[in-house]
Formats: sequence, structure tokens, C-alpha cells
Amino acid sequence: MAHRTEPTRAGLDPSVPVAELRRTLLEWWAATRRDLPWRRTRDGWAVLVSEVMLQQTQVARVIPRFEAFMARFGDPATCAAAPVAAVIDKWHGLGYNRRAVALHAAATACVDRHDGVVPAQLEALLALPGVGPYTARAVAAFAHECDVGVVDTNVGRILARLGGRSLRPAEAQTIADALVPPGEAWAWNQAMMDLGAGVCVRTQPRCDQCPVRACCAWQGQPADADPADGSAGVGRGQSRFAGSDRQGRGRLVDGLRRQPMVTAADLAEVAGWPDDPERARRVAATLVADGLARWDDDGGLRRAG
Ligand code: ADE
Repeated sequence: MAHRTEPTRAGLDPSVPVAELRRTLLEWWAATRRDLPWRRTRDGWAVLVSEVMLQQTQVARVIPRFEAFMARFGDPATCAAAPVAAVIDKWHGLGYNRRAVALHAAATACVDRHDGVVPAQLEALLALPGVGPYTARAVAAFAHECDVGVVDTNVGRILARLGGRSLRPAEAQTIADALVPPGEAWAWNQAMMDLGAGVCVRTQPRCDQCPVRACCAWQGQPADADPADGSAGVGRGQSRFAGSDRQGRGRLVDGLRRQPMVTAADLAEVAGWPDDPERARRVAATLVADGLARWDDDGGLRRAG
């Protein structure tokens, strides 16, 4: 397709030498690539699981949990047949348990609608519970090697810096799609991820080590504001965890892992806010809304499943 070989027409600064960018990044990646368990497979389920885990958890923490999860739930049918509580249990240490609930629902949808396999088409992927544009594209590229660009926070940052301007989400996606070297979406997107994780990092980017510095409009110039600031999906990181609702939520989830229920009287204590039972109930209600727990008749919180 013409727009794949002529990305300048797709919103990239005309000064960015696309052929050189593609070649140097792929060469660098061939020499430096990280060997990660989800890169040793093209299995759609494995890739989906890894991508959901990686959304809010760092690579090093995901690796052992991914391997344990896949050993227990090796395909959508096995996951769908298990109680959601068992899936949440295997999610231990990853946080954000609603992702486990959504993954269980996605596994069920794969069994019901796709003969137990994770589909390859973007539309079908997007229709799976909990699968948004990022995850759908990641599965399409990493499992099915479709020529689509995968834009997470790191990739959005790279694209903004390369072009020297902040990007709206749709622009970032268009440019990412156009940059994919035809037939090489798998390696290209993995390479972008590694560049964003190790070189083109948010603060103090290592521009002196960057393989595509010559193609970059920004090049870390201190005098020029970082084009990634305020750009598509490039947040400033998560708000502080300590003292947050998320922390109390996590304590309640841990409490329900240790015992099947937390009584109404214990709720505030278990959430870590002994003096604020109202807050504890409000945060507990978010677990109920997400399908992770349910209220019992006495106002206690019970494990779902
Ligand atoms: N984060 C999200 N997807 C990833 C991948 N395939 N490799 C490394 N980090 C990732």
C-alpha cells in the first residue's frame, strides 16, 4: 500500500528519513533484543495474557507471573472453564485485579464466538471484553504479524520526539501504522517497545546511545521542550500509590485472598483506614462494581466466584 512506503503523507515530519529510520532501528534491535517469554510464541492467547499483564506492571515482575499463569491456564478454554476466583488468585502480585476478571471474560468470549482461539482481526479483538485499541493491535502485531503500529505510552513518546511535535492520539496511531516496514510488524513494534523502555525513556533519555538519533527532530535538546510532554497518551506516570484509594483497594483484595469474607466491622481496618469506614465502604463498592467481590446481607464483603 502506498501510504506504508510514503509515511510522510501520513503526518510524519517530511525531514524524518523513513528508510534510514527503519533500517537502523531494526539493525540495532537485532543486536540488542530482549529475550522475553511472550516473544518466543505467536500464540494469540499467550500474547493477549502478556499484553494485559504488561499494561500496568513492569516486565521483570510480569515474567514469572506470566509463566505461572500460562502453566495453569494455557488456552482460553482452560481459563474460561475455571472459576473467576481461580484466575484472580493466579493474578496475585500483579495488582489491578479487574484485568483478571476481564481476561476471564475474554477467554469465555473466545470459546463462545471463536472456537476457543483468540481472533486475528482487529474488529473481533476489539469486541472482546477488556480489549481496547492498544491490546487489539498488540495481539494483531505480536501474535498474527499483521502490519499495524502498536502505540503505548513509550511508543507515543518516541513518535512525538522523532517528529519534534506533540501528537494527538489519532495522529500518533496513523504515523505508527505508516512507519511499520511491510511484513515486519512483529520485529518493528518489539523494537519500538525496547527503544522506549531502555533508551528513549521519559526522563533523561539516553540520546547518546540512540540508534535513530540522526533521524530525530528533538535529540534531547535541553533548550527545546520535550515534544512528548502533553502528547498522545503520554501521561506523567501514575499518581502516588501511598495513601491512595488504590492502596486500600489492594489491601481489601489481599484480605479477600486470605479469607473468603471481610465482615462489615472489619472492613475499615482491613482497608487500612480504621478511622474512615465511609472511605473503606466506597472503595469496597468499586470491587463489587468490578465483579471482584459482592456484598453479603450483613454488609460484609465476600470474595466473588
Ligand atoms: N510491553 C508491552 N508489550 C511488550 C512487549 N511485547 N515486549 C516488551 N514490553 C512490552
